[in-house]
Amino acid sequence: MNPNQALWEKGDFTRIAETMRESGELLVDQLGITSGLKVLDLGCGDGTTALPAARRGADVLGVDIARNLVERGNRRAKEAGLTNLGFREGDASDLGEIDDESFDLVVSIFGAMFAPRPFDVAKEMVRVTRRGGRIVMGNWIPGDPTLVAQILKISSAYSPPPPDGFVSPMTWGIETDVVARFAAAGAPESSISFAHATFVFNASMSPSELLDVFRTYYGPTMNAFEAAEANGRADDLHRELAALFNAQNQSGNDDTTAIPATYLRVTVDR
Ligand SMILES: C[S@@+](CC[C@H](N)C(=O)[O-])C[C@H]1O[C@@H](n2cnc3c(N)ncnc32)[C@H](O)[C@@H]1O
Repeated sequence: MNPNQALWEKGDFTRIAETMRESGELLVDQLGITSGLKVLDLGCGDGTTALPAARRGADVLGVDIARNLVERGNRRAKEAGLTNLGFREGDASDLGEIDDESFDLVVSIFGAMFAPRPFDVAKEMVRVTRRGGRIVMGNWIPGDPTLVAQILKISSAYSPPPPDGFVSPMTWGIETDVVARFAAAGAPESSISFAHATFVFNASMSPSELLDVFRTYYGPTMNAFEAAEANGRADDLHRELAALFNAQNQSGNDDTTAIPATYLRVTVDR
C-alpha cells in the first residue's frame, strides 16, 4: 500500500482537527471568499478549512489521500446541509483528472506539504489554478520552537532513518525551497509572498490528555511511539512530549489546552 496513504489512514486525524476548528475559521476569514469562488482544498482532512469556505459561499472540492477523512468530510458537509462542497480521494502529487486552470483558489493547510515529490506537488497546484487566481499554503517550519515543529523534531529522534530519497515535509517551511519548487512549476519568485501566522490547538482537556490524543490518533506520533516502543524508549518519548505540551500551554489553567503554533503562510499569485 502507498505508505503516505497508510500513514494518514492509520489514526483518526479528526480527533486532532477538532482542536483546530477555530483557527481554520479565522484563516478562511482572511482568504477573501466570495460567492461562487471555485476553491480546491488539497490535503483537506475532514474539512477544517473546506467547510468554512463553503459556508461563505465558495464552490469547494476537498481532495485528500486518506479515505477515512474523505468519508468524514462528506458526512460533515451533508450534516451541515452544504451542497456546494464535496470531498474525494486524490494525491496532491498527481491530481490526474482535474482540469488545468479550474480553480480560483487552491488552498492547502498543512496538507500538500505531506505529499511525496514536492516539485510535482507545486506543478500540480500551479496547473489547476487559473491565471489571476491564487494558491495559499500553510506549512510548518523546521526548527521553529512551537508545538508541531517540535513534535516532529522530537519524534524523528525516536524513529528509524527515512528511506533513501525521502524529502522531509518540513522543507515546505523553508522559503528558498518553496521558491525553487514554484519557480520550476512556472510561478516566478516575484509572484510568491510569505508571512508567519499562528494556528491555536484548543481543547477542553489538559495538555497531557491532548498528548494522549496525539499518541492514539495522529499517524506520525503513533509511528514514533511504535518505533520508540520497539527500542524500549516509549517512556522517554512520552516524557519529552509531555514536557513540550505542558510548557507550551497558554490556556491559563491545567484543565484546558490552548497551544499556539507558528506556520509559514505561502501565497502564490497566478
Ligand atoms: C495535518 S493533516 C491537515 C488536514 C487539514 N488540512 C486540516 O487543516 O485539518 C494532513 C492532511 O494531508 C493529507 N495528505 C497527506 N498526504 C497527501 C497527499 N499525497 N495527497 C493529498 N492529501 C494528503 C492527510 O491525509 C491529512 O488529511
